[in-house]
Amino acid sequence: MLKKNEKLMMHIDDMTKSGEGVARHNGMTVFVDQGVVGDTVQGVITEVKKNYAKARLEKLERPSILRKSDGILCPYKDQCGGCAFFDVDYHEQLNIKQKQVKDALERIGGFQDPDILPIIGMGIPYHYRNKAQYKVSRNGIGFYKKGSHDVVPIQSCLTQPEISNHVIEIVDQIIKKYGITVYDEKTHKGLVRGVLQRTNREGKVMLIFVVNGDFLPDQEEIIKELQTLPEIVSIYLNINKNKGNRIMGDENVLLWGDASLTEYLGDKRFEISPGSFFQVNTAQTEMLYETVKEFANLKPGEEVYDLYCGTGTIGIYISEEDTKLTGIEISREAVQDAIRNAKINKMTNAQFLSGKAEVVTKDLEGNPDCIILDPPRKGCDASLIHLLQELKAPRIVYVSCNPASLARDLKELSYSYEIREVQPVDLFPMTGHVETVVLMSRKDT
Ligand SMILES: C[S@@+](CC[C@H](N)C(=O)[O-])C[C@H]1O[C@@H](n2cnc3c(N)ncnc32)[C@H](O)[C@@H]1O
Repeated sequence: MLKKNEKLMMHIDDMTKSGEGVARHNGMTVFVDQGVVGDTVQGVITEVKKNYAKARLEKLERPSILRKSDGILCPYKDQCGGCAFFDVDYHEQLNIKQKQVKDALERIGGFQDPDILPIIGMGIPYHYRNKAQYKVSRNGIGFYKKGSHDVVPIQSCLTQPEISNHVIEIVDQIIKKYGITVYDEKTHKGLVRGVLQRTNREGKVMLIFVVNGDFLPDQEEIIKELQTLPEIVSIYLNINKNKGNRIMGDENVLLWGDASLTEYLGDKRFEISPGSFFQVNTAQTEMLYETVKEFANLKPGEEVYDLYCGTGTIGIYISEEDTKLTGIEISREAVQDAIRNAKINKMTNAQFLSGKAEVVTKDLEGNPDCIILDPPRKGCDASLIHLLQELKAPRIVYVSCNPASLARDLKELSYSYEIREVQPVDLFPMTGHVETVVLMSRKDT
């Protein structure tokens, strides 16, 4: 039996989704913080449970050849915890994600040796995020430390576009220069709680100050100072006077500039408001949606249901002018955005309904040729899977951010549907997350 503080030599032969190395010692699984698959490490046991133990890496005896070797370093990686796979070579990250999807389909879905297309990765897996939520502390602006509410001040984040790093540096200076008070979760005092940034591919920035109040001190001067950065096209205040640690409040006040940020996916235009959901990796979202479009293979005049549609982006992206589109989404605000996005893209045959997909779909009277599913991590409600078997759409395209719930739902659907294609896409380089698009076709058509 292992003991706390015991030192031992281990070989890392696998990795978890959260980026820990996995080693075995006398039949016991040991999760090694910062261990990379292929490493031989000297570890110190930090925790012992009935079926597993945890260890910290004390000395890297023999580094794995799968360790990152592109020379790009992040000074915050050990504290910040936002990039759990940062130490792993990018190609190996892609292999791990490909395997994650295969393992889930085999173990949870019961599919034998499933055919999976090679994962679509990025050429340059950095600077890809179009959105950042910074926390503000007395020490500076940054992200929460792994497993705590302490802020790690960050001057430049490798997942952010260069312009976004530059803007946040200026914002940090402004907060200090104007002596803006910082919100304290414990006392509920202080003004600024966070700063949210959204950046489009043109390099234009929407800046949102999240405040426990109604305005910034010296607001006019601050706006003038920010206007000297031509990339900033929109400045908002988000009012959040709640005591909890929810990031944003419900009220957004436009201080200056455009009400929304424009982004294009393919030839479709989308207007993004401060609270809109929009996938955070624009380039890879285009790859993802292009895959959905290819799998959906809509013919002139066909009908499609886009379930869990968010702001309508998938349905709008894959539709032609005469496609009959129905989107369903639980969030009312997202449905408002979807209606607006459909109008911007001149769609005349689209409707968006708010409510639970498993409830609203029951009352639809259409005859869909294709159904898109893009549920949250927990997957589809069991009653929706049941309903889908009755609806008998010839094709289902399932977009998933969680291989485990995807595999569970595909297993249920496989009574009446056959898997045709499985395409993983990497939307989140340096993290353990993977997106998967699956095409299923009806067995009896
Ligand atoms: C992974 S997001 C997909 C968003 C969108 N398809 C996209 O690509 O941007 C999942 C969406 O499902 C919505 N949602 C969660 N539970 C739902 C339910 N039971 N019925 C309908 N929508 C739901 C969430 O609000 C969220 O917008």
